[in-house]
Order: sequence, then structure tokens, then C-alpha cells
Amino acid sequence: MPLKDSGWWDDFFPAFRPYFGLISEKQTNAQVRYIMKKLNLKPGMKFLDCACGIGRISLPLAKKGVRVTGVDITQSYLDELSKRAKRKGLKINVARADMRRINYYSEFDADGNLGGSFGYFEKESDNRLVLKKMYRALKPGGKFMLHVINRDWIMANYQTRDWQKVADTKMMEERHFDYRTSTNYATWHIIKDGREESFNLSVRIYSFHELIAMFESVGFTDIEGYGSINDDPISRDSVMTYIFGSKPKGK
Ligand SMILES: C[S@@+](CC[C@H](N)C(=O)[O-])C[C@H]1O[C@@H](n2cnc3c(N)ncnc32)[C@H](O)[C@@H]1O
Repeated sequence: MPLKDSGWWDDFFPAFRPYFGLISEKQTNAQVRYIMKKLNLKPGMKFLDCACGIGRISLPLAKKGVRVTGVDITQSYLDELSKRAKRKGLKINVARADMRRINYYSEFDADGNLGGSFGYFEKESDNRLVLKKMYRALKPGGKFMLHVINRDWIMANYQTRDWQKVADTKMMEERHFDYRTSTNYATWHIIKDGREESFNLSVRIYSFHELIAMFESVGFTDIEGYGSINDDPISRDSVMTYIFGSKPKGK
């Protein structure tokens, strides 16, 4: 059932589930090692994964002894995560919430908005609110990681259509970029067993310099960004970016 703040994500994400099958375990494990290293995470520390999806990152982090809280809006993803955690004997706190409405205060050693879960809201103030909530959730001295697609790469490689096949599901995406608002408008056609469902979505795509300004506006310091998990500098060739900010000690 949609929460009060409903949007395109309510219908889209349950149908998007097969897409996670395109991300290899090797890729995820390398990201998890990078997250542990860059966020100085050690077993026993507390990490907030928002939005956590099916637990792609939450589960391996919990396996490494990190005390993970996973928040997401898609109930079917949280159910799957809980089931997998139980099966593996891992304890993960799970909560269903809109990422703008989470209310954690100085609870986590580190937190992350990962795998392209940012820019979902039409209003700039809502996207900023997500960062503000992640900032608030950190203990003083804690570190946040944002893992998002790189606007400069998108601009250099923009394609108006694209398709993927995962097992028995075909996913076709038609796109249109609005330069005035830096928003990618897309229609996804998801086809399974001869049945097609279509979804419209819009994602505000931020450039690195815009994100730095937004991070600063909510209080983050020591902001740095990389274009790969090898800490390469961000360039138009970096597909994804990894941006970090810290909550100052004593805040
Ligand atoms: C691209 S997936 C990434 C999931 C995960 N971080 C990963 O890397 O595998 C984006 C996630 O955002 C969640 N989501 C979408 N809108 C949301 C909202 N308004 N509040 C909380 N979660 C949301 C979706 O359910 C989905 O799990």
C-alpha cells in the first residue's frame, strides 16, 4: 500500500526487481569493501542504508559484522531482504519509510544512499531534505556516502532508448532529458510472459559541483568525490560517482 507521499516509485520499483540481476556479486562485493574502507566501518558499528532495496549492500555488510538498518519504501523488497537475512542468520533492522521522512538523530557511525537512489523528487527542497536526514542520522564525526550516476557521463553518452534482458524479463527504456531542470524523464516498458507494463519516471540528475553545494548546505564538511572504487578523479568518463561528506565532531 502506498505511503502518504506517493509517487512514480510506488508502481515502478516492484516491477524493477529483475534489474538487480544485472549486478554481479563480484561488483557488489567490491563496492562493499570500498564502503567499509572509505566509511571506516568496523564490525559492531552502526550503518544506515537508505534506500536499501533488496539488501544488495545491507546483507554483505551485516555478514561482515556491521549493525545495519535498512530503510526502503518498497514493501516487497523489505520482505525479501528480511527473508534472506533470516536464512543467512543475519540480524538487520528493517523499516519502511519514504527517505524524506526518516527521523534518526545521531545514531549511526556511517550512512549511505547507494546504487542511484537519489534525485527522485521533483522539488529541489525534497532532494535536499534526503541529504539533511542522512546528515542528522549520523553521530558527530560520522561519514556519509552518496553513490549516484555522473551527470557529465550521461551528457556525453546520452541515448534516447536502451534495453536490457534479465532472465525471462525484457526492460526497455525510452528517455528524454530536460536541460532546463536537469531531469531525466523516462518510460520503462517491462515485458514478461508476453505481458507489457509501462512506467513513467523522472530523476533529477545532479552534477558533482551541485552536489558539493547541496552537501555543504546541510552541514557536511570534508566533501570529496571519486569516479570509481579506485578513487579515480571524477571526469566525464566516470559512469558512477562516489561522494562523501562528514558530520563534524561536536555537532
Ligand atoms: C535503484 S534502487 C537501489 C537500491 C539499493 N541501494 C542498491 O544499491 O541495490 C532504489 C531504491 O530506492 C527505493 N525508493 C524509491 N523511492 C523511495 C522513497 N521515496 N523513499 C524510500 N525509498 C525509495 C526503491 O524501492 C529502491 O529500492
